[in-house]
Amino acid sequence: MENRSQWGTRAGFILAAVGSAIGLGNIWRFPAVAYENGGGAFLIPYLFALMTAGIPILIMEFTLGQKYRGSAPLTFRRLNKKAEFIGWWGALVAFVISTYYSVIIAWAISYAFFSINLSWGSETEGFLFGEYLNIAETPGQLGGLVPGVVIPLIAVWTLVFIILFGGIRKGIEIANRICIPLLVIVFLIIVVRAVTLPGAMQGLDAFFSPDFEAMKSPDVWIAAYGQIFFSLSIAFAIMIAYSSYLPKKSDITNNAFIVGFGNSGFELLAGIGVFGILGFMAFSSGLDLNEVVAGGVGLAFVVFPAIINELPALNGFFGALFFVSLTLAGITSLISISEAYVSSIVDKFNISRTRAVIIGVGLSAIVSLLYATRGGLFFLDNVDYFINQFGVAMLGLVEVILVVWILRKSNMLKNHANSVSDIRLGAWWTISLAIVTPIVMGYMMYGLFKMNLLREFATDTGNYESYSNAFINYSGWGVAIAVLVLGIVLASLKWKSPDSLTDYNDE
Ligand code: ALA
Repeated sequence: MENRSQWGTRAGFILAAVGSAIGLGNIWRFPAVAYENGGGAFLIPYLFALMTAGIPILIMEFTLGQKYRGSAPLTFRRLNKKAEFIGWWGALVAFVISTYYSVIIAWAISYAFFSINLSWGSETEGFLFGEYLNIAETPGQLGGLVPGVVIPLIAVWTLVFIILFGGIRKGIEIANRICIPLLVIVFLIIVVRAVTLPGAMQGLDAFFSPDFEAMKSPDVWIAAYGQIFFSLSIAFAIMIAYSSYLPKKSDITNNAFIVGFGNSGFELLAGIGVFGILGFMAFSSGLDLNEVVAGGVGLAFVVFPAIINELPALNGFFGALFFVSLTLAGITSLISISEAYVSSIVDKFNISRTRAVIIGVGLSAIVSLLYATRGGLFFLDNVDYFINQFGVAMLGLVEVILVVWILRKSNMLKNHANSVSDIRLGAWWTISLAIVTPIVMGYMMYGLFKMNLLREFATDTGNYESYSNAFINYSGWGVAIAVLVLGIVLASLKWKSPDSLTDYNDE
């Protein structure tokens, strides 16, 4: 008899999936990526990627997880024994992401405290890189551990341990039931404040004014697909694991639409909030908006503190709210990223959940210390870029081609989803997965390989020009290739738990 854990309710599953999707990617990554890639024009490739890749792949992963009831390696093994490594590849990509994702949450926690007294002062850039991160001089150098990062990092991992020890219903489901409503309330307060600041409308204008020229550039499309994959938590083992805890007859397609639109709705809201605030910054400093926008680290930890300094009232309060929202969004995603590999360890090695959490999360916590060193930011920047392009996006493409073209399972999956869902899947789903996604993403991956092999790094952060080839090869390419190789090795080890489903019929 199968005794896999299950979500308590449908709402519990939806909240957990939404909690996984809404994360650091929505609040600090999306607004900057959208702005850099043509503002309003970015929304067209973004929505195209959402409708032809994001939601169709989400439906595919939900169906796979629910039908085969296993973590990603077990699900792919049940689909076809030779496909197990795809599941491990995804689980290992999730592992790598968890190692640095946790560190960004640790920074957010520190900054929530700094907000109270605005202790970053007026030189917010100098504060971040100097006083707080004490950043090393050259990329590749480690320096020592930074206590200001290590302490909140321990808090982050302690929380993840506690939640994951609790299991699906008593751990993950409860955490999301608390964090997600809280996040929505906190974020709505921030957005309302943002759009009512003087100058906010100019900010929104910049966000929404389309630059149609930009749409012709392949980079904009790569950015849109990359954003959708990371933001929806697809193609790195998470959504397969989460849906493996669904009851047998629960809805798939409608749930996927709720999660997909919920995530993008939040993302657009974040864009509106962030650009409203940037408009205010431009207005109060007399600068052009282009001069105040920055991506990633710069936006959340340099520009925002500077803006918080300028708010007319309740500066510390709004600062704390912003960093608390980043922390809440981050934690609910981090637990899903960690669950992706914890569930894989439990399934393959037939050990208790507690042991798998200690081994998996424990290892990730140890590795995360690398990014808590003085040279950590350089590693983070490099690993993040390579693991997203040659981990997540590449894996998405391989997964789709494998399921649809090599194993030819799309009709079977469609029939399964239709047999349990409110909404019926039709030609849109099949055409998106079989034709549109492979062509657009195949072309994209070709371009990406060419660009990176020629060392023409064009990234969000634009930091790469100071990176040496050796550093890029070891920490970037090295990690991206290692997860694939290790995935193949893990897949070749003996499977220790029952791996067949008695009632599973592969019609
Ligand atoms: N989906 C998560 C995010 O957007 C990983 O941050």
